[in-house]
Amino acid sequence: MSEHLDRLRDDHKDFALNALNEAFAKNPFEAFQNWFDKACSSQQPEPNAFALSTTNKETQQPSSRIVYLKELKNKSFVFYTNYESDKAKDIEKSGNVSLLFFWPGLQRQIRIHGVASKIALYESDAYFKSRPRSSQIGAWASDQSRILGSREELEDKLSALNARFPEQVERPPFWGGYGIAPHQFEFWQGRPSRLHDRIVFEKVKNVWKSYRINP
Ligand SMILES: Cc1cc2nc3c(=O)[nH]c(=O)nc-3n(C[C@H](O)[C@H](O)[C@H](O)COP(=O)(O)O)c2cc1C
Repeated sequence: MSEHLDRLRDDHKDFALNALNEAFAKNPFEAFQNWFDKACSSQQPEPNAFALSTTNKETQQPSSRIVYLKELKNKSFVFYTNYESDKAKDIEKSGNVSLLFFWPGLQRQIRIHGVASKIALYESDAYFKSRPRSSQIGAWASDQSRILGSREELEDKLSALNARFPEQVERPPFWGGYGIAPHQFEFWQGRPSRLHDRIVFEKVKNVWKSYRINP
């Protein structure tokens, strides 16, 4: 029993902070940048965290997890991860992914559909070099998504890795970035009475078109 869960049915939020019209941006990248800047300047928690959804091609099981956006470069959304993780296995079979940014303090979400592929090795090298040593060692230590016997096992591995790399830590070959090339964005702005504003940008034959959809 949870008193909070029991009260959810009576919780009726209303959204009234902002509005959105069709002319709010010339293209989805400009729109994304504007909203991202606003999320940062208004101190939203973890503004660059997004839910990344992938699908296992064999089982058709979708899976979501939070990752950090590290760059928006050449119209590509870049994040870093373990190339042998569950998400990476999904992406290797099907690069079709969905991204979701949610900034509750602004009553906004952005949904993006795109195709993920590995970025160039030199780009992953450059980013890996810029990370703190503890994160570099952590990348080596974790067989991300695989079964781990105990916490102790991980910590023992960490000590061994610290001895193996007394100075510079090289990038593990199984770790790097993915870039996501988007073909659809939906900008969602909460409005009163559940009559939210939703503007979609869709890439059709290399041209971005935009339209409003029902809340
Ligand atoms: C705020 C936050 C940020 C995260 N950032 C990353 C990230 O940038 N890269 C990453 O691989 N995992 C990140 N994680 C961990 C993932 O959510 C996830 O647990 C991990 O990547 C394993 O996912 P998988 O087993 O589905 O591949 C983050 C988690 C949180 C809560």
